Amino acid sequence: MFVPTMGALHEGHLALVRRARALAGPNGTVVVSIFVNPTQFGPKEDFSKYPRPIEEDTAKCREAGVDLLFAPTADAMYAPDASVWVDESSLSTVLCGASRPGHFRGVCTVVSKLFNIVTPDTAVFGKKDAQQLAIIRRMVRDLNFSIKIVGMETNRERDGLARSSRNQYLTPAERAEAPVLRKALLTAKASGKRNPAALEKIVRGVIETASLARIDYVKAVNAETLGEPATTKRRLLIAVAVFFGKTRLIDNIEV
Ligand code: PAJ
Repeated sequence: MFVPTMGALHEGHLALVRRARALAGPNGTVVVSIFVNPTQFGPKEDFSKYPRPIEEDTAKCREAGVDLLFAPTADAMYAPDASVWVDESSLSTVLCGASRPGHFRGVCTVVSKLFNIVTPDTAVFGKKDAQQLAIIRRMVRDLNFSIKIVGMETNRERDGLARSSRNQYLTPAERAEAPVLRKALLTAKASGKRNPAALEKIVRGVIETASLARIDYVKAVNAETLGEPATTKRRLLIAVAVFFGKTRLIDNIEV
């Protein structure tokens, strides 16, 4: 059982680890990786300031029953002249892929490398990063990795904010407004509407009530293809990315 992470572990990560522990059983092995992967960060993104509390993370892994913690250096992971990339070319073009060029190429490449190093039978990913999960599933299918992918529900603070290592960047004022993402998505779902444009309008309307929020995108898509919903009978995913200052938060909901 394998749980790849970038560390700064919070309850959301630990829920994945506990699921992996339960799935592995007492005789199975749970591996967690902590690697802040440089190739998935854009030049103006937070790679250098991304939190790296390795001592606390190690203690949390030990407490959660992790058997092996893999925390390589960037030099160990990437040869200086590395020139092979794993590039998903369809699902990666929309949503966060459109806002963060090259991001999913970095994710797919590092996850492939981690899969090859760890050789797990199962890997656990969170639905908080719904697009990442869909892309990893596609990669596993298209490149014939013999690995089962398990998706876990989003773990939230009491006020609905999805847990994220980036929440600690928020100022108190931004933190107070951040639950508006969840509120907007719940309002759209409760409307009973199925039309993507109508859903997006509701979400935008609620988010715009937060004075510090700057919308990156609000999009209702087909939950499987991440493309235009072919019919409104399909599962829809409403995904949002919103800046509070320099901090970019994402969330999503299925309707
Ligand atoms: P990271 O953001 O550290 O997340 C590691 C895993 O934890 C991902 O599968 C993510 O979806 C999950 N996760 C994070 N917050 C969560 C929450 N609130 N509830 C449920 N799951 C949550 O995602 C990455 O790292 C990287 O892109 C990685 C896959 C490790 C490749 O570098």
